[in-house]
Amino acid sequence: MRLRDCHNFHDFRALAKRRLPGPIFDYIDGAADDETTHRQNRASFERCDLVPNVLRGVETVDLSVTVMGQKLAMPFYCSPTALQRLFHHQGERAVAAAAAKYGTMFGVSSLGTVSLEELRKSHDTPQVYQFYFHRDRGLNRVMMERAKKAGVEVMMLTVDSITGGNRERDLRTGFSIPFRLTLGGMIQFAIKPMWGINYVTHERFKLPQLDEHVDMSGGPVSIGRYFTEMLDPSMNWDDVAEMVRLWDGQFCIKGLMSVDDAKSAVEIGCTGIILSNHGGRQLDGSRAAFDQLAEIVDAVGDRIDVMMDGGVQRGTHVLKALSLGAKAVGGGRFYLFPLAAAGQAGVERALGLMQAEIERGMKLMGCTSIDQLSRENLRFR
Ligand code: LAC
Repeated sequence: MRLRDCHNFHDFRALAKRRLPGPIFDYIDGAADDETTHRQNRASFERCDLVPNVLRGVETVDLSVTVMGQKLAMPFYCSPTALQRLFHHQGERAVAAAAAKYGTMFGVSSLGTVSLEELRKSHDTPQVYQFYFHRDRGLNRVMMERAKKAGVEVMMLTVDSITGGNRERDLRTGFSIPFRLTLGGMIQFAIKPMWGINYVTHERFKLPQLDEHVDMSGGPVSIGRYFTEMLDPSMNWDDVAEMVRLWDGQFCIKGLMSVDDAKSAVEIGCTGIILSNHGGRQLDGSRAAFDQLAEIVDAVGDRIDVMMDGGVQRGTHVLKALSLGAKAVGGGRFYLFPLAAAGQAGVERALGLMQAEIERGMKLMGCTSIDQLSRENLRFR
């Protein structure tokens, strides 16, 4: 299978599986506990149907949206994800370049492998900084100042990772940074030598958002340990209100699900919220963001930009979320498998397919602009 044979999420996933050592594929593909929420995320889009209108004159379609003050050429953006240079040596550089090509927003993770400054300098498409709240408040302030100075447009605080999710696939393979693999995990790397050659012949693995501030040399830092030991589980609404004041710009919270929390986000002055269960990687059994969307939009949609992610694999999934009132929709695995499969060319192909699917879907729905989509276009069974 080659890149040109990839026509959808499943094709990219299959190609990525072929290229990546098993532990890395499983880190991306896997989720928490029984992976129920992960499955629900996708299934949630299948419990409702689009109701199209016809004969509306749909020669030209405008896919652009404005979200948190950022104009995006399409309503799908690349959610921030960690460790991208492990998946392909181009890492975040590939994702940023592809997002810029399609005029959409991308996120840089606190656990990113390319510096937020470098990415901000290379492209002018909106950049989000995904932030984790550390126990060390001084560190939080320094990291925010750094992002501000770099010109990052949107601060995005992830709040669903107050402790590490139970990723059993990673426990089995020994996935951690740097690697401390189980024997089975090592064999998985040995049978994918091309990945290893690329890894060792390119720039050394780093976490440039953190390495100035956090000593990661004392042994492997598993993702679970980073969450559990370095992040602050006492974080509360007052802390976030303080962050919002300090940042003094576009600020969104990613990973809230309840109406009460959505209202609190409005009250402390956030400009966006992202309904998310972290791709099912944190609290297994939590509700799919899509299922929770209407309730949240009804409660706060006139006061804050509501977005969502989780399980988005198709343009029609995006159209369904927009019909319920989301302002934009994000994806993680959606571009990570293409990244792993083929670097920048892979991400570009995936975003190109998404753009084409949204545009085709809009035409078939009888809409020429995103604001024409409404609840009238959707029925739950
Ligand atoms: C994860 C974190 C790092 O889901 O976002 O693995």
